[in-house]
Amino acid sequence: MTELTSRIRTLSTIADLRALLAERRAGGASVALVPTMGALHEGHLALVRRAAELADVVVVSIFVNPLQFGPSEDLDKYPRTLDADLAALAETGVDAVFAPAVAEMYPDGDVQTRVAAGSVGTLYEGASRPGHFDGMLTVVSKLLHIAQPDVALFGQKDAQQVFLVKRMVRDLDLPIEIEVVPTVREHDGLALSSRNRYLDADQRRAALALSESLKAAEQAAPSGAAEVLAEAEGAFGAHEDVQPDYLVVVDPVTFLPVADDATGPAVVLVAARVGSTRLIDNQPITLG
Ligand code: PAF
Repeated sequence: MTELTSRIRTLSTIADLRALLAERRAGGASVALVPTMGALHEGHLALVRRAAELADVVVVSIFVNPLQFGPSEDLDKYPRTLDADLAALAETGVDAVFAPAVAEMYPDGDVQTRVAAGSVGTLYEGASRPGHFDGMLTVVSKLLHIAQPDVALFGQKDAQQVFLVKRMVRDLDLPIEIEVVPTVREHDGLALSSRNRYLDADQRRAALALSESLKAAEQAAPSGAAEVLAEAEGAFGAHEDVQPDYLVVVDPVTFLPVADDATGPAVVLVAARVGSTRLIDNQPITLG
């Protein structure tokens, strides 16, 4: 551990995190929470840097949440890289990393009480990953209760997650501001994701189908939703290694598919399997 990373307080118990934050709050400090599952990349660091602009104390949680993985998903294989994550956080202004064990977060093993993501939680990502959003909201709710931050930060790349977290905060009257930070992309457009590390060189090239389809969608936006879908689907056709899962234009207020004649703000969501890696991306657009 370098001198810089050793300045970050790494805490593994809820009691220790609460004690630290109580002390800092007593001195008048505001708190920002950046929930993550680790395997940090520039997208996460952008969240942390923004958090440091918004609050006096920044806490990053690193917890690979079993509740949001289905039985056939990559829970065991999901990258756990705490030392590299602490090194990456060294110069971002983070004060504490909360990295609990599964037994700290779920001491009784089986969880009886979950937050239900509702009907939007069963669409798109939720249709392919049943229970994913209930598990995600349950852990986010726990983290918000544990840290009681003034603001919590999430990346726009997980647009449906952002929608559901905001909805939970509103539905449950949680006194927390949700700040959404734009997607960070590679130079060629690929959205940063912890899962990109699973891609080999060919798959990495093929994965550009997602961002290319979104670029095509954005260009077609003035012509309406049907044209957006046609152009975006066309961009996918060129990549044989990519199995599209869904491509949909949704209303940002309801997160339901827009009508063909819709105008105004919308979000294009895309998901695809590249080899065995599932990737998602999205693009806010304005329909003409
Ligand atoms: O986006 C993620 O990394 C996770 O879904 C989150 C919000 C940290 C909850 O486990």
